[in-house]
Amino acid sequence: MLVTKQKVLRKFWYAVMPIAMLEDGPKPFTLLGENIVVWLKSPGKPAALQDRCCHRTAKLSKGFVENGNIVCGYHGWTFDCAGACVRVPQNADGSVPAGAMVQSYYCEERYGYVWVALEKPLRDIPFFPEETTPGYRRIFQFYERWETSALRMMENSFDNSHFSYVHRGTFGLYDQPKPEKYEINETDYGFEAETLVPIKNVPASYRVTGTTDDTTMRHMFNRWYLPFSRRFGCQYPGSGRHHIIYNCATPIDDGSIMLAQWLYRNDTEEDCAEAELIAWDAPILVEDREILEATDPDACIDVRRKQEFHMASDRPGLIMRRMLLQLLEEHGETEVFRSKD
Ligand code: FES
Ligand SMILES: [Fe+2]
Repeated sequence: MLVTKQKVLRKFWYAVMPIAMLEDGPKPFTLLGENIVVWLKSPGKPAALQDRCCHRTAKLSKGFVENGNIVCGYHGWTFDCAGACVRVPQNADGSVPAGAMVQSYYCEERYGYVWVALEKPLRDIPFFPEETTPGYRRIFQFYERWETSALRMMENSFDNSHFSYVHRGTFGLYDQPKPEKYEINETDYGFEAETLVPIKNVPASYRVTGTTDDTTMRHMFNRWYLPFSRRFGCQYPGSGRHHIIYNCATPIDDGSIMLAQWLYRNDTEEDCAEAELIAWDAPILVEDREILEATDPDACIDVRRKQEFHMASDRPGLIMRRMLLQLLEEHGETEVFRSKD
């Protein structure tokens, strides 16, 4: 599926960047192939426009913010958060030509991130309950570009067969390649998937898992939020520690994503410091990134049309593809993909 060609994907919210990145001025982002600029119209309130001035096409992200509006860095034309040009400094009284405006987008802050929808969203920004549940702390982890597709990243998130191979250097048990069964319940937002995962517990992870046993269990309550967000809901039964990761595979274009990842823990900084939690998950992320960047990003969602072999543990990914195909069909679209094999 080539995400930039599937119009319905423009009607979902995506986490595009940490809001803290806007404190020193506007920033560019490419979402589904569209160049946008985001800035702070007031503290904690972001806005998004097309990154292209309607005067002589300069990128507005090269400009600056003044009184909540964005000022083009070329000749100073000024735009409000709805995209209307409100001032042309060279004209008498700053008057503007009729119809001078730039495309605006839906833009909100949530969970420390700026979220953008290119068109009227079909549903709300996903609800992540740990954000407001007492006893949890939020930890910013990773924000980085990967050369893969959003679907590849999502299916990998529910693929328990790769742990013994991709993660054999961190938590994977090489001699236990057969994954436990997943219990999957489809929901209105995607699905929930519960399973148990035995893991290697090296000394570097003792304070993460809360145990010093050589191996331990993860009890997983994962969720997939259509189209490209997921919850990694890990509980360590022995210690009662929760390690709840949210990932957004925000589609930049057909072959790259911005991975946004943050974490909720039900313990304290004394139990396990933020730096330790980032240091533990960082090499795991590199392992996933390296294998995903070695795949073809053009994952075909209609599995009748492209040859890929599957095994029983690929079921979550296959449900994902079916639900995405159904979404396209409900909106009168057919899948666009590049490969013909
Ligand atoms: S190009 Fe933006 S003000 Fe001229
Ligand atoms: Fe992985």
